[in-house]
Amino acid sequence: MKTYLVTGGAGFIGSNFILYILGKYKNVKIVNLDKLTYAGNLENLTQVENNPNYTFVQGDICNKKLVEELFEKYNITYVVNFAAESHVDRSIKEPEIFAITNVLGTVNLLNCAKNAWEIENGFKKDVKFLQVSTDEVYGSLGPAGYFVETTPIDSHSPYSSSKAAGDLMVKSYFDTYKMPMNITRCSNNYGAYQFPEKLIPLLINNCLHQKDLPVYGDGLNIRDWLYVEDHCKAIDMVLSGGRSGEVYNVGGHNEKTNILIVNSIITYLNENVDKEITDKLIKYVEDRKGHDRRYGIDPTKIKDELGWFPQTTFEVGIDKTIQWYLDNKQWMENVTSGDYQKYYKKMYKEDKLNK
Ligand code: NAD
Ligand code: TYD
Repeated sequence: MKTYLVTGGAGFIGSNFILYILGKYKNVKIVNLDKLTYAGNLENLTQVENNPNYTFVQGDICNKKLVEELFEKYNITYVVNFAAESHVDRSIKEPEIFAITNVLGTVNLLNCAKNAWEIENGFKKDVKFLQVSTDEVYGSLGPAGYFVETTPIDSHSPYSSSKAAGDLMVKSYFDTYKMPMNITRCSNNYGAYQFPEKLIPLLINNCLHQKDLPVYGDGLNIRDWLYVEDHCKAIDMVLSGGRSGEVYNVGGHNEKTNILIVNSIITYLNENVDKEITDKLIKYVEDRKGHDRRYGIDPTKIKDELGWFPQTTFEVGIDKTIQWYLDNKQWMENVTSGDYQKYYKKMYKEDKLNK
């Protein structure tokens, strides 16, 4: 039986990944280590909180003693490192915590994994460290071309630079010790459970409250959007089939300008919810500092080597996503008020969730 140490599993992609894996496999165990920062929400995981194959541990990936204890207590096969500070705008205001979690936290996980997995002539069978990274480490593209795995790292924001530094530490554990690892670099995700500071849930939430829709700069920056379940599928495939030491880019050729995303959301909500939701809400605001112009992934490697392809088109995925936020307005209320966090942190302290 494989045991996954999923870090940051209470966040957007991590929680989707845990639900995906526990839905797909009956014979796996998941230990979810999450600090429960503002972005971590155990409400995302209520479906599995009583699943005997799932354990939640509140804690910091930088905490050496705690991570060592987890390796001692559970026979960890895979580390899947989602834990991160993930928002570019926050990184511009407060870079330090990005270096602490995204770099030092990753190094701590790597080191604890190495100590637990190393045997006389190498590493235990079947173990792997998977670093969940981002296309943002490659920097910004002009109008043509795509990021491939050999594109030089050229990160710009404190967020992407901290992810790039984390990636290089992961690579060093392969190059130096031959510790089995992969790095996945995915484009922008969208779907259920995304914290409403990121573009898509922020726009939906603001539309529903008749608030301005802030569009940075000229609104023509391009992101390559992937439905979150397709990212989860890619990580699952890389864990089981990825060649050790390799980087895999993940993306589905879904490049859209920000203003197109804004207009798609307005149109859906105008037609399905409220005629008062119109483009009058759009407000062009000052551009983000160092704003990357375009991201675009070439996914040929993961397609050719592992047979991965995105199952959900943007047209289907965006409607599903908007509808999910409409069906889960209480989730959005709880997240934006912060009340759920106080509730779960109290629950944790009373040891009700710690199995
Ligand atoms: P998120 O901000 O929604 O979640 C991050 C999670 O990590 C939260 O649950 C938070 O509580 C936890 N966390 C933060 N610091 C921690 C620490 N020190 N110790 C333990 N837990 C901690 O992020 P997300 O959007 O789900 O992204 C997950 C990962 O995927 C990140 O590494 C990010 O760089 C990467 N990624 C994200 C995207 C995207 O579009 N969101 C795209 C590509 C890659
Ligand atoms: P974001 O969701 O923060 O993801 P990332 O910066 O990691 O790609 O932003 C996506 C794009 O949307 C990015 O070009 C910045 C832009 N943006 C806005 O125009 N307005 C907003 O309020 C936000 C949060 C983002």
